[in-house]
Parts: sequence; structure tokens; C-alpha cells
Amino acid sequence: MNILILGGGGREHALAWAVKQNPKTDRLIVAPGNAGIAAIAECASLDIFDAGAVTAFCEENAVDFVIVGPEAPLAAGIADATRAAGILTFGPSAEAARLEASKTFTKEICDACGAPTAAWARFTEAEPARDYIRRMGAPIVVKADGLAAGKGVIVAMTETEALAAIDDMFGGEFGTAGAEVVIEEFMAGEEASFFVLSDGAHALPIGTAQDHKRVGDGDTGPNTGGMGAYSPAPVLTDALQARAMQEIILPTIAEMARRGTPYSGVLYAGLMIEDGRARLVEYNCRFGDPEAQVLMMRLGAQALDLLLACADGRLDRARVNWADDHALTVVMAARGYPGAYDKGSEIRGLEALPADSRHCTFHAGTGAQEGRIVATGGRVLNVTARGASLREARDAAYAMVDAIDWPEGFCRKDIGWRAL
Ligand code: AMP
Ligand code: GLY
Repeated sequence: MNILILGGGGREHALAWAVKQNPKTDRLIVAPGNAGIAAIAECASLDIFDAGAVTAFCEENAVDFVIVGPEAPLAAGIADATRAAGILTFGPSAEAARLEASKTFTKEICDACGAPTAAWARFTEAEPARDYIRRMGAPIVVKADGLAAGKGVIVAMTETEALAAIDDMFGGEFGTAGAEVVIEEFMAGEEASFFVLSDGAHALPIGTAQDHKRVGDGDTGPNTGGMGAYSPAPVLTDALQARAMQEIILPTIAEMARRGTPYSGVLYAGLMIEDGRARLVEYNCRFGDPEAQVLMMRLGAQALDLLLACADGRLDRARVNWADDHALTVVMAARGYPGAYDKGSEIRGLEALPADSRHCTFHAGTGAQEGRIVATGGRVLNVTARGASLREARDAAYAMVDAIDWPEGFCRKDIGWRAL
């Protein structure tokens, strides 16, 4: 079959890498893709927010299956458009993607279905929000309601910080995403990510992961989109996963179906684990980045069969064939990230790296210039390896990092520390 993946980061490279290995795949096109993806798939320049352009492209290229990577086109309704055009699609409708696109919507769903999460309140004006913060005290969490590229959440350890966040949000710092603000109870504990496919009626867990949000070793410095990840996450034991399915995931899927907006796609639940119990931090309506890189490396070719079963409503008959193994990815970023950074520096040594079912350097922000690979983003490479143990996966990934010649880049040296 002909498959189109929408997106152009490390997550989409990992999806393409797994899909490519499945014998069902004939033509594989990624839009817009990047320099790493170009080595395994055709890259097409296509505005992935333009529903008319995407459906026309699918018709012209006889695309049988569309996989949507990022949340923004989902929230804008790209999966609604391709489905309406009769193309099998992996990814939720715009209505269902509100589970990521609106924090208040997710909180309402949790309240309606009884899923455990932080106590919360919603505000559309600054003064009542300030009063609430003064009454509740710190630590407390302030969130812009809408999509803010992962930057709309302030975990305030002091009241002053929380009040400043209110000023920023109602002052327009986050644009329309901040017109409505959610203030939440601070949850202590250990965070982990749980990935479940839902076809609207059935659910299939497909793995756990933990990422490293802070830029510096020892979880210091500002937050980022993620500096590394590993799978599985030992803190999410089988018992905790079963409980999270019963208390959080299945009730959410049932509530979405009850409202006439069934959730079809991957439900990525951020969980906070404390005292043997998981509470929902947030939902995302897509695979994590860089969590997808470790999940895809562990799933390999069967990922396509699972995504097809999800899109097709056949998840009740789908199974994951787990290898008892671990995967770890190290993000290499441009110096300065997550602040200002330069683009265009050359990355050398990539061609000599191992590339097989246990090793892959996924490209997140790269471009090709006269045969050279250059950095074009903040997070640039996801150096990923699999091993019989987490330690083995980590050692293999860092051996690859050491072989990359890119003086303008950096990475954390301690990915996996919590589990090791
Ligand atoms: P979100 O975008 O909602 O996932 O929030 C980003 C990050 O903020 C999460 O991954 C957590 O680390 C943190 N966070 C969000 N909500 C809470 C909460 N209620 N308590 C503690 N930490 C939180
Ligand atoms: N790595 C976090 C995310 O994809 O949201």
C-alpha cells in the first residue's frame, strides 16, 4: 500500500523507519520530511494544514493510508478532511483532539468519567485567578488552556511565580491559548508516559516511556520538548498499567464515544505516580517526541499493522508482540537550545554510525545542503539504540553520540538515570 506520513521531525522519522520495514508498504511518502527521512522515503513539500492540498495529494498519489504525526494539524481537522475524502487515516478528529488542544476540555472529561487527576479551576479573568492562587497557596500549577507548543504550563513553586504566570497569560504571552487559564493542584510523584491505541471502542496499550524535560544533566535548567527518553518505564508496572486502563483510559474512551466524538488514534497519557497510584497529568493526541523514537524502535514493522488496526476499528483483534528489550534515545540539540541557537552548522560522521534494527539516528531538525547534513532546528538528532537491558541500550546510544562530529551540538549525558 501507499502510505503518507504528515510531519517532519524525529517522531515522523521513527514512524517512517518502522512502517518502511513492513512488507505491506509499497510507496512511503513523508510531508515535509527532513534530510534523514529522505534516505528512506520520498519527501513531499506539502502544507499539512491545507486540507484541500493534502486530500488532492492523496488522490494524485493513490495514497491508501495517512498517518498524522503532530498535534497542530490534528487540532485543525486534517484527519477529518482525509477521512471525509475516503482515505484511511491514523489520527483523531479535531473534536477528539481537544483532549490535547484544550486543558479545560480534558478536565471536564475527567470529571465526567471519574478519572483521577489534579483538582482544578478555570478562569477567564486575572483577578479571580489571583484570588484563587492566594487562597490555595504554592506550589500550584498554572496552564494556558490552548496549544502552546509545550510552553503553556508553569509549575509555580512560589505564590509570586504563580501570580507572575497569571500576568503573562492574561497579558497575551501565549496568544489565544492563554485567553482561558486552568489552575491546578500540584501533584508530587514520578512522571511516566503511557501509550494506548484507541479505535473509538477498543483500546490496546502499546508501551510506556519516560522522558527528560529539563535541558541539563540532573534535571536542571529550563524545560524543553524532551532531551531523551527510554522505554519501558519501570515505574509503570503491569499492575499500574492495568489500573490506569481501568480508572483513566477506558473511562475516557467510553466518555468520548458517549458524546458522539469517539477517540481514534494514539492516546498518550502523561501520568503522575505516587504511592502506587496513577493520576492523569495530561493527554496528548499523538505520539510523544522523542518517546515515539523508542517505541517505534521496540515495535519495528508491526507498528504499521497496529496503526492500521487502529484506523480500521479492528483493535479488539490486534496484539503486540513484545520483545523483552529496552530502547533509549539521546537528543542532540543545537547549543543554546531551548533559548536562541544558530542554524546551518554541519554534522559529520553520520554515515559511519550503525543503522539496523537495533540502532538508528533519527533526524529531528536537519536539512541537506550540497551533500552535507546541516542542523536546521533546536532539537536536531535522536540517537537511538535497543538492548537486552536499559544499560546496554544506553551504552550503545552514547557510543553512537561519541562518534558524531558536531561541535555546535550538545546532549545530556545522563539519559536513563532514574531507571538505572
Ligand atoms: P502538561 O503540558 O499539562 O503536560 O504539563 C507539562 C508538565 O508540567 C508536565 O509534564 C508535568 O511535569 C508538569 N505538570 C503539569 N501539571 C502538573 C501538576 N498538576 N502537578 C505537577 N506537575 C504538573
Ligand atoms: N516529549 C513530550 C511530548 O512529546 O509531548
